[in-house]
Amino acid sequence: MNIAIDGPAGAGKSTIAKKAAGELGFIYVDTGAMYRAVAVYLTESDISASDEDLVEKSIADISVEIKYEDGAQQVYLNGENVTGKLRTEAAGNMASKASALPCVREKLLSLQRDLAASNDVVMDGRDIGTNILPSAELKVYLTASSAVRAKRRYDELVAKGAENIDIEKIEQDIIQRDKQDMERKTAPLKRADDAVLIDSSDMTIEQVTDTIVGLARERM
Ligand code: DC
Repeated sequence: MNIAIDGPAGAGKSTIAKKAAGELGFIYVDTGAMYRAVAVYLTESDISASDEDLVEKSIADISVEIKYEDGAQQVYLNGENVTGKLRTEAAGNMASKASALPCVREKLLSLQRDLAASNDVVMDGRDIGTNILPSAELKVYLTASSAVRAKRRYDELVAKGAENIDIEKIEQDIIQRDKQDMERKTAPLKRADDAVLIDSSDMTIEQVTDTIVGLARERM
C-alpha cells in the first residue's frame, strides 16, 4: 500500500508520517531529505541553484541512495552517509531553491517511485500525491496556519536551548518557503484533487496520526 502525505514546511508531515508508518508496519520515506542531500552537494561544491546548466551537469554523476538502519532512513550521497547534515535551515532553503529545477526533480523521481513499488510506504513531500504516486491508495494534504507552524518551530528551538529567536522572522521564512514551493513551474506544492485535507492547527500529533492510520486501515 502507498500513502502519500504532502503539505507545506512545518505542518508536521515528517513526525506524523514516521509515527503512522510505525503503527502500520510500513517504511517511512522522507523525500525532502533527498532534495536536502542534493542541496548539501551543491553547497559543498559551491554551485548556485540559479546556474541551471551547471547544476544539471554536476548532478548527472552523483549518487543519492536510501538505506534503512534500525528502521530509520539514512541518506547516502556518493557513498557517504550525510543524514546528519540535512536538517539545517540552510539545507532546507537550498533544497527549496534546487527542487524548483526540473533536472533535480528528474534525478530523484525513480528513486522515489522504486521505493514505493517495492515496499508499503508512507512517503512525504510536496508532489507525492500529484506527481510521484498518482495512484496512491491514500493521499493526505496536511497543513496548518503559518502562525501555528511558526510557533511550533519556535518551541522546538527553545527546547533545544536557542536564545533570542524572532518568531515573526520564523513566520516570514515559512511564508517565503511556501511561496517558493507553491509557485514554481515544475511539480508545485498543491493539494491533489483526491487528497484528504487535514488542517493540524488545532490538532495534536496523536489526533492527526490516528486519523491517517484509521483512513489507511479502511482502505487496506
Ligand atoms: O520537507 P523538507 O522541508 O525537508 O523539504 C525541503 C525542500 O525540498 C522543500 O522546501 C521543497 C523540496 N521538496 C520538494 O520539492 N519535493 C518533495 N517531494 C520534497 C521536498
